[in-house]
Parts: sequence; structure tokens; C-alpha cells
Amino acid sequence: MYRSRLGTNLSDITLDYVSSISDDSEIALYDILGSQAHSLMLFQNDIISKKDAKKILSALENLKNKKFDSSSGAEDIHELIESLIIKEAGMESGGKMHTARSRNDQVVLDIRMKIRDDINILCNCLLDTIEALVSVAKNHQKTIMPLYTHLQQAQAGLFSHYLLAHADILTRDFERLYETFRRINHSPLGAGPVGGTSIPIDRHSTAKMLGFDGLVENSLDATSARDFVAEYVSVISILMTNLSRISEDFVIWSTSEFSFIELSDEFTSPSSVMPQKKNPDILELTRGKTAEIIGNLTAILTTVKGLASGYGRDLQQVKSSIWSTSRISISALLIIKSILLTLKVNVKKMKKVTESSNLIALDIAEKLVQEGIPFRVTHKISGILVQLSHNSKKPISKLTLSEIEESVTGTKVDPVLVSKIISTTTVVSSLKDRKSFGSSGSNEQKRMISDRSELINKFRSDVSERENKINSSIGELERQISRIIE
Ligand code: ARG
Repeated sequence: MYRSRLGTNLSDITLDYVSSISDDSEIALYDILGSQAHSLMLFQNDIISKKDAKKILSALENLKNKKFDSSSGAEDIHELIESLIIKEAGMESGGKMHTARSRNDQVVLDIRMKIRDDINILCNCLLDTIEALVSVAKNHQKTIMPLYTHLQQAQAGLFSHYLLAHADILTRDFERLYETFRRINHSPLGAGPVGGTSIPIDRHSTAKMLGFDGLVENSLDATSARDFVAEYVSVISILMTNLSRISEDFVIWSTSEFSFIELSDEFTSPSSVMPQKKNPDILELTRGKTAEIIGNLTAILTTVKGLASGYGRDLQQVKSSIWSTSRISISALLIIKSILLTLKVNVKKMKKVTESSNLIALDIAEKLVQEGIPFRVTHKISGILVQLSHNSKKPISKLTLSEIEESVTGTKVDPVLVSKIISTTTVVSSLKDRKSFGSSGSNEQKRMISDRSELINKFRSDVSERENKINSSIGELERQISRIIE
């Protein structure tokens, strides 16, 4: 449709190469809404007549329920929609729709509208997943498990504490996404190809109609920058790496060696040969798809980094990276949430492992500290106790007084005191004694759970306020359109 300056048409192979039509189905509706706001504004500012506006707006309205023909020969959805409008409204009216805009501001408008909707969906999915973590934590405030560093058992902990850690990590993902929305929700519409237009348009009014919080003011910035895309995909990359780490924990914990958890059958796959297998494929794929999203981020950054200012067709390529990022992350959150809610926790096995591993060593050292002995001395005593237990193949609690005497040699510490402390220290007492703010301590769990539940409710209303604002703007736009069309 645009090729009057050029001699020949594109060959099929070249058209297929240059066309973004297959990626554009994701933004078709946004393109129609953007075109409606733009046409309405042209009419309200006496740039087109009411008759033209009526024809254009009703043709656009009819397109909303249409399935687009991707073999139409158009290079992208913008060309296709415009050609369909001209076909229905006639060149006299339809030919005026593209006044004072360009595909360069159009495409970035569509992308911003798509990402802001995806952010709202993702924010809700994140809150659902965080809520699932907190609700499972509620049921496991007494479920004892080993906490790891270097994947070596470190301290006795509680499963609720583990789950709440991930709730907090995902809350930061939520906050990053929520914050990113503020920079995305600005309208580039009316920026034109790069330098604006001589036609007296009102950019503020189209921004308002489409529910934006403001404008991307500078027309060069508006059309050529994709930093907001990189920001969105960066934030999702971080989110996915967090889901990937939960996945890795669950993969390890569902092995028969660990057997801390059992995944529900619906989130596992069988082997084609080994009938006994229950493979955690869904979690493995979360790790795998995280790699794909990091790849998307790399694709976006490398596309943009060498691009001269102003729109370049290279930018067309970033769209598929955005769509894939949204699609994968939304599914990943839905799946992780369901995995959490259907998880079987092997409480006995977790406790047994915790009890059999001298994880009370630090607690013994800390109890001696409370008797006024320097930590460096108590750490040494406790270390010798662990060594003695290891060599004699019995737990610290079964060491004899003469063995305990060995642990205090060279210090002024009374072995009877050490023996008394050992006999009163268990993993359960250890978790009762753990008092520091945010620790695995039994008393901390309740407080942390109630704080998180309150926060989730606040975030939920923040997100729905945003959604309502967009919906009411679009609703108002639709009412104005129907008044003109009738
Ligand atoms: N299909 C293009 C894209 O997705 C739309 C903008 C085309 N602009 C241009 N000047 N060729 O980026």
C-alpha cells in the first residue's frame, strides 16, 4: 500500500522476511484502540469531519471481532488495518485515518499498551503465587528441616521460613514490575515518524483516552527508544531466575535420596522406558525457559545497542522477544503456584534428617556464650564435639562426660556445664531459642506470615486500582465512539 515511490513489489520471500504480521496478532486490538483514539482526536480538533470520523470509527469497531488474514500481502498489522479501513470507509474518509501519525509511533504505542496489560496480569499472578507460598507456610510453621549453605546442612530451620523467604523474593519482583509500569504507561502517540507534525493534534487528549498517565514527550525519544522494553524483560529475567531457583530446590528435594517433598502427578512426567520414574520435567522446564527469557533480554539489548537514533526496522524484532517473555513468565507463575498448592511434604523425613546431622552445634556454642564464654572459645568446643561425634559415629547427645572433657581441654570451661547444655539442646529447643528478627525461630513465623498477608492485600488493591483506571478510560472512549457511530 505504501510503495508508490518504489518501482516493484516485494517477492514472496522478501515479503515473508520483512513482514511482522505473524507477530502482530498480539497487538491487533491495541492498534485498533489506538487508531480509534487518534481518529476521535482528529475529529475533536477539526482535522477531520464528523462524517469521516463516523466512517472510520465504525469500520474500526467492525474490525474488533475480525480474524486477520495473515496472507494479505501487508507488511504489518498497521498496514493491514489501514487498508481494511480504506476498503470499508472508502479512500475519501478512510484515507484520512493516518493523518498526523506514523507506524513508528503506532507500533510503540501498541507495545506499551500490551506490556502494561501484561504487567497487570503478571502482578496478579505474582500475588497469587506469593499468597500460595504464605498459605503453605501457615501449615508448616512446625515442620522442621535442615537449612543449607553450599548445599551442606547448616542450621535447623522451618519449612515455613523457607517458603516465606521465597515470598519475600517474589515480593521484590512484584515491586520491580509494579514500578516499571510507571515508566511504561506513557503515550508515544502523535510523535509521528520522528520529529512530530505540523497538523494541530492534541497528544494529551489521546493519552487520556487510552488510560496513559502521561506522554513520552520528545518525539524522537517516543519513537526510537526501547529502554522500557529492556527494563521489562530485565525485571522478568530476574523474576524467572528466582522461580528457577525454587524449581532447582524442588527438583533436588523430590529425589528419592532426599524425599523431602513429592510433586503432584500432574506436574511430573513418566519415562518412556523406565516404568518407575516420576520426573520433575515441569520444574526442569522452568529452569530451561528461564534461559530462553535471558536469551530474549540479550536479543533486545544487542538489537538496540548499535542502532542509530530514530526508528530502525531492527526494532521490529524485539516484539517476539516481548511476547515470549510474557507468555512464559505468566505460565511459569501459574504453574509454580499450583505446584506449591498440591505439594506433599514429607514432614517426618525432613525432621529425621535434621536431627541426625549435628545441626545443634551452633546452638550449643551460643548457649555457652550466654554463660559468658567468648564465642571463639565456644565455637572451638562445639567443633571438637562435632569431630568426636563424627569419629565415634554417635550423635553429640550420646557423648560421654570424658569425651566432653576432651572438648574443653585448654579452656576454663566446666565440662559438666557443657554436658548439661548438650542434654537440653534439641532441634526443637534450637528453633524455640532462635529469637532474632527474621530468623527461623518458631515465634517469628507467625509474625512474618501475618505481615505478609497484610502486604498482599494492599498490593492487590493497588493493582486493581490501576486496572480500573485503564478500563474506565477505554470504557469512556468506547462510549464516545458509540455516540458518534449511532
Ligand atoms: N512493523 C513495524 C514494527 O513492528 C512497524 C513500524 C514500521 N515502520 C517503518 N518505518 N518501516 O516495528
